[in-house]
Amino acid sequence: MPTQRTAVSSQLAEVADPWPAHGGEPETAILCVEELRKNALSNSRDASRAGDAAIGIRGVSKSFGDDGDDGRLPALQAIDLEIRRNEFVCLLGPSGCGKSTLLNIIGGLLKPSTGEVFVNGRRVVGPLPRDIAFVFQEDTLLPWYTIAQNMHVALEFQGVPREERPERVRAALEAVGMSEFARYYPHQLSVGMKQRIAMSRGLSLQTDIVLMDEPFAALDEQTRMVLGEDLSGLLEQTHKTIVFVTHSLAEAVFLSDRIFVFTARPARLKSIVTVDEPHPRRPDFMTSDKFNGLRNRLYGLLREEIREAVRQNV
Ligand SMILES: Nc1ncnc2c1ncn2[C@@H]1O[C@H](COP(=O)(O)OP(=O)(O)OP(=O)(O)O)[C@@H](O)[C@H]1O
Ligand SMILES: [Mg+2]
Repeated sequence: MPTQRTAVSSQLAEVADPWPAHGGEPETAILCVEELRKNALSNSRDASRAGDAAIGIRGVSKSFGDDGDDGRLPALQAIDLEIRRNEFVCLLGPSGCGKSTLLNIIGGLLKPSTGEVFVNGRRVVGPLPRDIAFVFQEDTLLPWYTIAQNMHVALEFQGVPREERPERVRAALEAVGMSEFARYYPHQLSVGMKQRIAMSRGLSLQTDIVLMDEPFAALDEQTRMVLGEDLSGLLEQTHKTIVFVTHSLAEAVFLSDRIFVFTARPARLKSIVTVDEPHPRRPDFMTSDKFNGLRNRLYGLLREEIREAVRQNV
């Protein structure tokens, strides 16, 4: 991952506040509640309308390293795409191509070198805690709080009124079949259970958009499949726009409405694959010819890119 994460909830992450005017990289920081609110307001004051897509990405490129530095590393190149409201999209590309970088730019955690991102029609100039929730691969539950308390904290950071929190925590845990574990501490749960909680917490926040960076990567294949089915089922109830990064072709096909396939670094948009299948997806979709055809098509699109990524890294 590009930077170390010490985030204490899906609302807390390394951030610019807002991005420094001189264009430097964001400082790693944990924002307090008040700062998160200020950021939300400053983003809304800078608002400029840009269509009705949930997320619009216009000419976004990103290089790491200082200007004039020979070692400057181009990670993203001229990305243009739109993500519709209530859509589930996957970002798929070889390791190191720039998927997390793009996700962090969408979420306002990183500033693009060129181009602009619009979220709900507003130009992104920093984190948008009221619009966007994150779910990361790493376990971001606070070890000294119970599962229910962890959920409360996330809602508190988002400014959800105190009286609404208990019911929302209850509903969020029930939605993922974890009600009986409300009083458990994170160390008493399996990795899969913790990710189930993290997923539920991300979806329970009042944001329209959830960005998920390989949330199931640390899980075994069987748990992944079950959580994927759960997530597909939850989509019906939540009406969220979800951007999901994965390396798994099967996961991408099973979950997505559209899959954005990227080249090896610097990532350029290579192809968009549409999965025309209603949610919630049924387990037998995974054994259908349609599913296999789509997965094979993704593999065909990615094969050369994976080879190129391997060449870049030797
Ligand atoms: N903060 C940073 N400073 C310097 N280089 C970075 C930074 N963040 C990412 N990179 C580089 O940019 C490239 C893209 O990284 P990124 O993490 O976005 O890739 P990815 O597609 O998410 O990879 P993976 O699939 O392995 O998670 C990589 O070469 C990475 O080393
Ligand atoms: Mg990544």
